[in-house]
Amino acid sequence: MKDGLSAKSIYRKDYMVYPWDINQLDLYFDIGSESTIVRAEMKFHLKDEEKATQDIVLNGSDLQLVSLSLNGRVLRGDDYTIDGETLTIPGAPVKSVLKTEVKIHPASNSALEGLYLSGAFLLTQCEAQGFRKITWFPDRPDVMTTYRVTMEAARSEFPVLLSNGNEEASGDLPAGRHWVRWHDPFPKPTYLFALVAGDLALVEDHFETRSGRDVVLRIYVEVENLDRCGHAMESLINAMHWDEERFDLEYDLDIYHVVATNDFNMGAMENKSLNIFNSKYVLARPDTATDADYQGIEGVIGHEYFHNWTGNRVTCRDWFELTLKEGLTVFRDEEFSADMQSRAVKRIRVIRDLRSRQFPEDDGPMAHPIRPDHYVEINNFYTATVYQKGATIIRMYHTLLGESGFQKGMKLYFERHDGQAVTCDDFLAAMADANGVNLDRFGRWYSQSGTPQVHISDHYDAATQKYTLTLKQHTPATRDQKSKKALVIPFAVGLLTTNGEDLPLQLENETDATGGTRLLVMEEAQQEYVFINIPEAPVPSLFRDYSAPVKVFYDYSPMQLATLIAYDSDAYVRWDAAQRMAQGAILEQCQRLADGKDMRLDSSLLMAFRGILSDRLADPALLAEAMILPDEDYLAEQMEVVDVDGIHVARKFIKKGLANDLASLFAKRYTELNDGQHYQKTPGAMAHRALKNVCLSYLLDTDAGESLAVAQLESSDNMTDTLAAINGLILVDSPMAGAALSEFEIKWKEDALVMDKWFTMQAIKPGPDTVNRVKELMQHPAFSIQNPNKVRSLIGVFAMLNPTGFHAADDSGYEFHADRVIELDGLNPQIAARMASAFNRWKRYDDDRKKLMKAQLQRIAVVDGLSGDVSEIINNALR
Ligand code: BES
Ligand code: ZN
Repeated sequence: MKDGLSAKSIYRKDYMVYPWDINQLDLYFDIGSESTIVRAEMKFHLKDEEKATQDIVLNGSDLQLVSLSLNGRVLRGDDYTIDGETLTIPGAPVKSVLKTEVKIHPASNSALEGLYLSGAFLLTQCEAQGFRKITWFPDRPDVMTTYRVTMEAARSEFPVLLSNGNEEASGDLPAGRHWVRWHDPFPKPTYLFALVAGDLALVEDHFETRSGRDVVLRIYVEVENLDRCGHAMESLINAMHWDEERFDLEYDLDIYHVVATNDFNMGAMENKSLNIFNSKYVLARPDTATDADYQGIEGVIGHEYFHNWTGNRVTCRDWFELTLKEGLTVFRDEEFSADMQSRAVKRIRVIRDLRSRQFPEDDGPMAHPIRPDHYVEINNFYTATVYQKGATIIRMYHTLLGESGFQKGMKLYFERHDGQAVTCDDFLAAMADANGVNLDRFGRWYSQSGTPQVHISDHYDAATQKYTLTLKQHTPATRDQKSKKALVIPFAVGLLTTNGEDLPLQLENETDATGGTRLLVMEEAQQEYVFINIPEAPVPSLFRDYSAPVKVFYDYSPMQLATLIAYDSDAYVRWDAAQRMAQGAILEQCQRLADGKDMRLDSSLLMAFRGILSDRLADPALLAEAMILPDEDYLAEQMEVVDVDGIHVARKFIKKGLANDLASLFAKRYTELNDGQHYQKTPGAMAHRALKNVCLSYLLDTDAGESLAVAQLESSDNMTDTLAAINGLILVDSPMAGAALSEFEIKWKEDALVMDKWFTMQAIKPGPDTVNRVKELMQHPAFSIQNPNKVRSLIGVFAMLNPTGFHAADDSGYEFHADRVIELDGLNPQIAARMASAFNRWKRYDDDRKKLMKAQLQRIAVVDGLSGDVSEIINNALR
């Protein structure tokens, strides 16, 4: 349903089994950019053989129908009906063979769904419902079929022809044409189908599986990128090893392909044995990609590989179950990255991301449970809730059952469901049955939206040496659900002495004390825990490793936070304590500013930072995380009414204050870390760069900063250090910034991925003038509104990561952005909808801004022919 006015919701409760089995699908493609002919032959078998006949219902969209035949008889106009995206052939016999031929037009497909053109090649994207843009078929994940795919094309233009599975045969044809046939032995749903045709170069390696099978690994890229595939290949091999070791899962085919494209709506796609990747998540060289890019590639390569079991071998019954594959696979890629890099740093980055992207979603117009009950456009439900919150729910199973219990559950899940399309209930049942536990109440996490709040109070009784923790949970109403139930909340605690040592923990009814961290499980709205033999009033270390996706409220004193920052054994708690302290300091200045008072710098924050800067034992990357101040959007989330400018000024004030008071410590640490060593890819070297560049960002707020940044820029041999220097110069409005940017542009103007960074650096610059620069940049030859990476790095960054630019009081940011949403909707509705969500939290701003944003939303809402994608977002925001 693409038309906004008639866009209708689909409900999970309406699920119906597809009445037919389709055991075999033969596809034939006559490939051309302007038009491609697709012939399909499918064998239908009625599930219920008692019935004599049944309608065949298929999905299709933007297809030019050439011919249709059933059991050898050509169908005429009155033998079938087409209504919107459905084709119905009434009364087909129990065994039926359907043949179709359609024509499609890849070069004019700007939505990047179905078959489309990217540079010198054609490729497909089918998840969630793109297959219907290729041919008529039941386009739903519970219809699983084996595919045989034959392609023919001109050899000069399309030397490489790829599809899923194994290459079965190939040959020459007259007039410089050739053909290739692929066969995938594993039945799969439409969304895992893929085809690639064009002029691509490849890098090849091998992996020997645990059972001794040789798997050919190939990464296909445009020829100029051949020297940037090494890291992706290494990550793939690491991922294959890791899945064997940690999850006992082996790869199941003899071939694994990765294709990189510059034109992709998402990050990457797990098509069976033919992954397609946004080139951002494949291509890297030290001088073109940052440490974050390298880590992103490792994580995404892992993610798509891990889907082979969690997604492909066991898939989703329908799209409401999306978190079944995505939440689980995100959990798996998080664990992979944690095992490859620093576990603690990875955890903190995951938690920061959950809080800054998922919490606002739960608190906004699109709030939904990790398994939604209804949607208009499924593409709008590839959300932080389904993905990141979904992964924390999987992590809670792991926390509750332990690694071995969790793995027992996984094993049973695969034993029961290999080759099937199943639901989250099936996953929960496997976990419960394998461990002999009841997880019914835990299952509420699948159906309840919103971020639970846990309010904690405590009491120490010196006479009895008892320490009581009282926890109350409460989930505020969300837009989609008014009343909420109590959830199962695992929480890990420790109790510290004021010297920072872990106390042994013994609950009232227990005979022995256990070590420093204790896992407790809350199941009711309110619960009390009494610890005995506690010799002094302890400092509570709460929710260690962030054991549940909740907001934790406890009235920490500055002293307690200082103790946790300095001594806690749990990296998350240390980091969180530093964030709480910084957040308190910034929000206090914001308030003072609003009250017309002078701002001031808190002495406990200074002390804490002094400690962090003097710490030579902790992982430098963790210290870096602890000193990164909460970002403006996260701070905004903490306010009743967002004070856009106040937050910006207060945060800057605190940063500058810390920088100047601790200038010599920052300089000392910076100098130590800036040791002139050549670039290395190791986690240790990345950690050094992370801390070094955090120090630089503070130093840029002192007089010494500019020359340090310029020197770093001149001597840099890697993109991480280069970007940190230029970004810093831009943010402090240095006169050197302009020259640095033009030099960068001259050097990289032909390089799409690096130019994305160039756009981002400029779009992120705070202040109301940036919108004009963004408008200018849209005219730059390296920019294209048709390319999602360009749109995200310029327009998306401006709207989502530049609060003082986007929320400029004069409406300039809003008006510009609404124009872009409208423009994009005509080209690529999925991307337009993502951009439109920048307005989602409009009700949280002051009256003037509210009025302006609402007017822009209304302007978008009445656009003629608005897509279902955008209208779902806009209508929800306006409701
Ligand atoms: N299956 C998705 C990709 C996808 C979803 C493509 C919907 C098109 C439409 C893939 O496995 C995925 O989740 N990719 C993520 C990256 C991942 C590391 C979380 C993405 O593309 O953002
Ligand atoms: Zn995924």
